[in-house]
Formats: sequence, C-alpha cells, structure tokens
Amino acid sequence: MSPAPRLVVLLLAARIAASQTFTDAGKDFRVIFPENIAYYYPSDAHNKIWVTALHDDTSVTMSSASSETKLNAGHTKSFDVTQELGRLTINDSNDFDPFTVFSISDKTVHITSTKDIVIQAVSSRGRSVQSALVIPTTKLSNKYFIPPVPETEGTTSGGAPVVNVTERAPFRLIIVNPDEPKASVTIKGRDEIPISIESGKAAQIWVDNGNTTQYVEANKRVAVYFSHPCAVQHQCTCGLLHAMVPPAKNDTMKFPIPPVLGKPASILLSDEANGRWINSSSLIVESAGTAIVYWPSLLLTLVPVEEFGSCFVVQFIEGKENILIIVVHKDHKQGIHIGNDPLGGAGWQELEGTDYVSTNRSISSTTVVWHSSANMTVYHMAQNNNTWFGNPAPVVSANPDFRGCILTPEVTMILHEAESWQESIQSCQKQSLNLISLSSEALQKHTCQNLRGNDAKQVWIGTRRSSLTGDWYWLNSNGFNDTNWARSEPGDVSEGQCAVMSLEGDCGWKDRNCCEAARPLCYAAPQVLQIN
Ligand SMILES: *[C@@H]1O[C@H](CO)[C@@H](O)[C@H](O)[C@H]1NC(C)=O
Ligand SMILES: *[C@@H]1O[C@H](CO)[C@@H](O)[C@H](O)[C@H]1NC(C)=O
Ligand SMILES: *[C@@H]1O[C@H](CO)[C@@H](O)[C@H](O)[C@H]1NC(C)=O
Ligand SMILES: *[C@@H]1O[C@H](CO)[C@@H](O)[C@H](O)[C@H]1NC(C)=O
Ligand SMILES: *[C@@H]1O[C@H](CO)[C@@H](O)[C@H](O)[C@H]1NC(C)=O
Ligand SMILES: *[C@@H]1O[C@H](CO)[C@@H](O)[C@H](O)[C@H]1NC(C)=O
Ligand SMILES: *[C@@H]1O[C@H](CO)[C@@H](O)[C@H](O)[C@H]1NC(C)=O
Ligand SMILES: *[C@@H]1O[C@H](CO)[C@@H](O)[C@H](O)[C@H]1NC(C)=O
Repeated sequence: MSPAPRLVVLLLAARIAASQTFTDAGKDFRVIFPENIAYYYPSDAHNKIWVTALHDDTSVTMSSASSETKLNAGHTKSFDVTQELGRLTINDSNDFDPFTVFSISDKTVHITSTKDIVIQAVSSRGRSVQSALVIPTTKLSNKYFIPPVPETEGTTSGGAPVVNVTERAPFRLIIVNPDEPKASVTIKGRDEIPISIESGKAAQIWVDNGNTTQYVEANKRVAVYFSHPCAVQHQCTCGLLHAMVPPAKNDTMKFPIPPVLGKPASILLSDEANGRWINSSSLIVESAGTAIVYWPSLLLTLVPVEEFGSCFVVQFIEGKENILIIVVHKDHKQGIHIGNDPLGGAGWQELEGTDYVSTNRSISSTTVVWHSSANMTVYHMAQNNNTWFGNPAPVVSANPDFRGCILTPEVTMILHEAESWQESIQSCQKQSLNLISLSSEALQKHTCQNLRGNDAKQVWIGTRRSSLTGDWYWLNSNGFNDTNWARSEPGDVSEGQCAVMSLEGDCGWKDRNCCEAARPLCYAAPQVLQIN
C-alpha cells in the first residue's frame, strides 16, 4: 500500500476544519429576544427566527415545536416564536417594585439542526424593530468586554449594577447560558458581581457609565448581549437597542467604519483595561477588544479586518428597505458578487486615511454575497420608519474562490504512483475523487497556479478521444470547448487517445498513449452555496 490514501484523507479533513472555524454557521443555537424579558411596551412583541440551510436535507428543530422542519441548501424559513415566548406577565399589584420585576428569565428558544445553518433573530414591538446575528453555541466564549454606556438623554444612570430590570431602565447586559451545566458568571470591574445561571436561562444586569463593569467572565461558554429596552430616538420616541457582544480577544485589531454610518462616528470601545466612548473622526479605529457603532437608534458591532470573510448570507427582512454595506480593501473592489451577479463598479466611497473602501446596495430577497479572491465584510441594514437597524451579516466562509460561496473547499491531489490512464481513474475513485476534468479556462488557470512547483512534471487528466471521430471528451461530460493544448498538440489519433497536462509554464496538454504511465491528477469540486 502506498502512503497516499491516508495523506489524502487527512488533507481533506484539515481543509474542511480550517474552512469552518471562521464562520457563523452551526448546528446548535440559543436565541433570546430582549424585549420579551423586559417590561416596556404595552403592546405585544412579534418574534421571528430566520433560518437558512447551507446543505440539502437539513432538519431544523425549535425547542417549542414537536416536529422538525426539513430544508434544502440555500432555503430560508422564518419561524414565528411569538406564541412560544408568550406575553410578558407584569405583576401590577400595588406594592409593585420596579427593581424586582425580572432578573432571571427562561424565555429562550433552543434551535438544533442536523447540518450547518445560519440564523438571524428579528423582533418587533410597537414601532421598534431590531435584528441580531445569532452565533452558534460552539463559537461562544467565556470572556466578553462590556461596552461603555453612551450618555444619552433618557438613559438613567443606575449607580451600582443590579441583577434587576425595570421599565425605562438604562443599558443592560443579558447573559445567556446556552446549555448544561449551570454557569458561574462574574461581572468584573471595580466591583465583582457573581451570578449563577441555569442552562437555557438568561440573567439581566444593568450597566452604568462608570467603570464598575469591565468584563464578563464565566466558567463555561455563555452569550452576552448589550441592549436597551427603550433608548431615546427622535421626537420623543424610543426604541429597542440590541447588539451581540463579540467574544473578548487580546490582539489589537483594526476596525474600519463604513462612512454611511456617519462622521464623526460614535464608537463604544472596550478592552482589557477600560471602556471608552469616542467620537471618531478617523474611519478606522484600533482596539484589543470590541468596537460598536452607536447611533441613537442603532448599535452595530464592527467587524475587524482580521475577521473579514469571503461569503455571507443576507436574510431579507420583509416589508422593510434592506441594504448591504460592503467594506473591502481598495485593491479588491473587483470580484464581489451578489448572488450570481457581479457587483457593478459604481458608488465606492473611500474610507479617508485608510486602505479601505465601502459601498451599499439595496436588495429585494435573501441572497448570498461573495468575493472571488479576497476577504471583505458585509453589514445588513434595514430601515423601519426612517430608523435604521442592522447587524453584521453571518459569515459562511473565509475561503475566497472564483466559483462562488465555498462551503467545503476543492481537493486537488497528485497520486504518487505512475500508472495507466484507466488505472488512474480507479485510483482517484478509491479516494472518493475523480480524475480531473478541466472544462473551463478559469479552472485550468486556477489548477495550474495551484500546482506550480510540484515535483511531478506531467499528470493524467480526465480527457480521452474517440478513435472513430477523433473528438475529445471530458470524463464529467462537460463540453470540450475551452482547451489548453501545448504548441502543435494534439497530434492525430495514432499519437495517443488520452492526454497529460504539463505542470510547467502554462500547463499545456499533450496527447499520450493511454497505456503509458503517468501520475493521476485527482480532484473533487468545492461545494458552493447557491440561493435563488
Ligand atoms: C404579585 O405580587 C404580589 C405581592 O408582591 C404577590 O403576592 C403575587 O404572588 C404576585 N403575583 C405574581 C403572578 O407574581
Ligand atoms: C433585586 O431587587 C430586590 C428589591 O429591590 C433586592 O432585594 C435584590 O437584592 C435585587 N437583586 C439583586 C441581585 O440585586
Ligand atoms: C475607574 O474607577 C476608579 C475608581 O473610581 C478610578 O480610580 C480609575 O481611574 C477609573 N479608571 C478608568 C479607566 O476610568
Ligand atoms: C489576554 O491576556 C491576559 C494577560 O496576558 C490574560 O490574562 C487573558 O486571559 C487573555 N484573554 C484572552 C481572552 O485571551
Ligand atoms: C460625541 O458627539 C456628540 C454630538 O456632538 C456629543 O453629544 C457627545 O458628547 C460626544 N461624545 C464624546 C465622548 O465626545
Ligand atoms: C448608499 O451610498 C450612496 C453613495 O454611493 C449614498 O449617497 C447613500 O446615502 C447610501 N445609502 C445609505 C442608505 O446609506
Ligand atoms: C481570508 O480570511 C481567512 C481567515 O482569516 C484566511 O485564512 C485567508 O487566508 C484569507 N484569504 C485571503 C485571500 O485573504
Ligand atoms: C413613524 O414615526 C413617526 C414619529 O417619528 C410616527 O408619528 C409615525 O406614526 C410612525 N409611523 C409608523 C408607521 O410607525
């Protein structure tokens, strides 16, 4: 036995693992709607969870429903969980104590699926609408930096934090324990507040404008949201503010700020040492923690350059004006696609003083946004009665590819043993791969570039010609139109009915006798997400 088979399997596993560590896709999520657990609006909340499946035959189960829902790749379904979460019950007896209304809530929804999905939670209550990207349980962390509280009219400053929530409360943290066991959580800062949270429950804690609260640390993975049940907007109205706090990180990262978010932009910065609220006139901020844009009606978690991705799912929110904001390095404006359509060139704005540019597009249905050769970031914003809300779009991949939104990467492998063309087909199949069919010019160029410097000089490729007609065919039955024959190739049928590819220069092809020996070039195409 040659050592090749094991190598192939390992490589495939490693590549799939690498491509999946950096996404918002997963199989287990715990969703909370903050306005459902805080008392403010007398009207009922309307809560929806939008699920997009990335693979065929995905079964999705909500903790409420007894049945599971089947979805295929690229399909989106919204689950209305309003009934399950129910009405907020307010104890309006005379000795109503605003500070004891709710401290711990069990109004969470648990979502599980058999294959990877991405999720967005959209809630509306009264005139207020908010959306949140929900990250899977496995991507949560046990440490979060707490954003500083912006000083806005109407956010009463509540002294020391309390594990109690009231009407018109100031900003608060919601800490969710997604699963077993019980979580021991400590809010650290000038004071230390210990909380114990059962599985599937959420604790709510006020945060104040001092530096009493700096970070959340837990003995297991938890989710942390920063929100306000009714922050003042314009004309004496108020609305929900809500953002998922990203896990704490130690590296200093660069956060570009899309110019449509305004300048100077109000940014809530927090790291190991402190939390600061700044009006940034620069369109890039650095932080070894988190950065959140603040508007009176919007909290938008910024994505650092170091965490850019190449493919995003944007789940269209019905009845609203939906836009995408794309931020990318100025050298990588080319190659961006919305669904199957290349992004037109117009409307780029420079982020002055940085190497980044930004643009926006309106969309009218759920779509996939991808880059063919670089990483970028995409924010999804929607407008409700002249007020914007939004969140970073879920990342599906950080593996740019000219073929689209890559779920599992391609596998290209030159086997070690030189053998006949027929034997090569079988050797590739033993690895669950195929002798490569190079039917498009893009794939020819990509493969040539990929294999440059390999020690093999010539490899079998998956084409053969008819001895009757002399016509060439690809093994995968694609049309034989784009060709890359080397000079004065191919010769006539008698010179050979199979073909090898050179790994030097432009990777030209030559006809060869099928019984000669060469190393097989095996291949598996990447799995690409399509949303139609
Ligand atoms: C409402 O508050 C009263 C007095 O504090 C208490 O006796 C009663 O059990 C509460 N009702 C509910 C539904 O919590
Ligand atoms: C919640 O409020 C009640 C009444 O004001 C108080 O006794 C209790 O200690 C508070 N809980 C916490 C964790 O602060
Ligand atoms: C935090 O609060 C303490 C005590 O009030 C103060 O001495 C310290 O300077 C504050 N730190 C920051 C970063 O504001
Ligand atoms: C960041 O670094 C500090 C000091 O080196 C360490 O105590 C802390 O655990 C680190 N935090 C994270 C999230 O890695
Ligand atoms: C930022 O600008 C706003 C509006 O001009 C102002 O109200 C606020 O105090 C400023 N914040 C800081 C931290 O400078
Ligand atoms: C979209 O970009 C254009 C500039 O190309 C800008 O004028 C417009 O305000 C942006 N739209 C939104 C909703 O930000
Ligand atoms: C895109 O981002 C991922 C994850 O950070 C990284 O591994 C990859 O090399 C990046 N690709 C490009 C072309 O920058
Ligand atoms: C939009 O907001 C204004 C106040 O800013 C309010 O008077 C109006 O009723 C709102 N419209 C809807 C459809 O909510």
